[in-house]
Amino acid sequence: LTTDDKKLIQQVCERSSSHLEQFGAEALERMFTTYPQTKTYFPHFDLQHGSEQIRGHGRKVATALANAAKNLDNLSQALSELSNLHAYNLRVDPINFKLLSQCFQVVLAVHLGKDYTPEVHAAFDKFLSAVASVLAEKYR
Ligand code: HEM
Repeated sequence: LTTDDKKLIQQVCERSSSHLEQFGAEALERMFTTYPQTKTYFPHFDLQHGSEQIRGHGRKVATALANAAKNLDNLSQALSELSNLHAYNLRVDPINFKLLSQCFQVVLAVHLGKDYTPEVHAAFDKFLSAVASVLAEKYR
């Protein structure tokens, strides 16, 4: 991530800070609809549109990403516990991190519109890939 990338990521996260639950929930719903196999990790959730659990989980995931955006220089440390959780407890196949990342990008594009410039897109792509590789670190 370049200095410019970091600035763009932090700007978008600040602008989105009052919509974390909404953006997170929309990203999850997109993931469940577009890649239905991801639903198998959430057998205990009510996956209907707008459910309490989707909104609550959306808030958790988006908040984790916003926190990561504040720690771009030490992502491994910032995401260490989440990395343990996904690798050892949840055993989420790392392939799925890419799917959720892609859904997050679409949600941002929908909401930011023309402000989701190619530069912001590129910066987020790098950021979400970096998050995904930290979350997948413990599998090796
Ligand atoms: C739980 C973040 C990707 C499946 C969580 C939690 C967070 C989180 C913050 C809550 C942890 C807690 O309660 O302490 C993320 C981030 C991701 C990501 C930042 C990538 C950008 C995924 C993917 C899947 C997944 C791709 C599966 C398709 C789960 C499950 C839980 C969980 C099943 C437990 C839900 C529950 O029972 O409450 N994740 N996650 N995660 N995550 Fe992820």
